[in-house]
This record gives sequence, structure tokens and C-alpha cells, in this order.
Amino acid sequence: MAPVAGLGLAACAAPGGSSAPTPTAPVDLGAESEVAKGGARLYRDHNVVVSRGADGALKAYSTICTHAGCAINKLQGTTLTCPCHGSEFDAATGKVLAAPATEPLNELPVKVSDGRIVAGPKG
Ligand code: FES
Repeated sequence: MAPVAGLGLAACAAPGGSSAPTPTAPVDLGAESEVAKGGARLYRDHNVVVSRGADGALKAYSTICTHAGCAINKLQGTTLTCPCHGSEFDAATGKVLAAPATEPLNELPVKVSDGRIVAGPKG
């Protein structure tokens, strides 16, 4: 049997090393058409969620949970759910919908370039 670390909190460690809290360089996420008006899309590989308002404007947020730094891996509609302690966030606004998180998600710059969505880094 593998040695046990003791605290059992490894999955919720603060970001660092390989899991940067936000992109460190602009990332090409995909075709602009992948995010529908009023919808959202989670880009797990980049820890970014992109949503589009009713007016067609895009918003992007880091999906590193502001509670203890887990990578959020679930999006239903425009609601993001953190796997660690169940915090929920609104992908359209970054706001907290359910505790324990209290801080909104970090907003990232996002733009469309040649029909592709390009997000981050925070500048
Ligand atoms: S890290 Fe605790 S709810 Fe996300």
C-alpha cells in the first residue's frame, strides 16, 4: 500500500507549480461559435470559462476556485461547481452563488481574433 500523506488535502492544495491560477500567455481556446449567446463553455485544459451575454459580449474567468484553489471541473448551464467543497459560481458574472467561497472568480481579458476566442493573461 502506498504511504499516506496524512492530511488527505493534496487534491485541494493551493495552485502552484503546474497549475497556474490564470493563463500566463494568451491562449487560443477555440472557435468563437462554440459559445452561444446566453451560454458558457468550460475550457478545462486552460482553467478558463467563457460566457456570452445576451448582447453577444464575451466574458472570461479563471476557473481556479477562490476558496482553496481547486480547478473547477463542472459547468451546467452557466453554473460552475467546484469539486472540492461545492462552491458554485455564475459563469456569466464570476459571482459566488454558493459558499464556502466568498470571492468572485478572477476575470480575464478575452477577445476574438480571426474567429477564435483568445483569453488571458490578466493585464
Ligand atoms: S476549493 Fe473549496 S469550494 Fe472550491
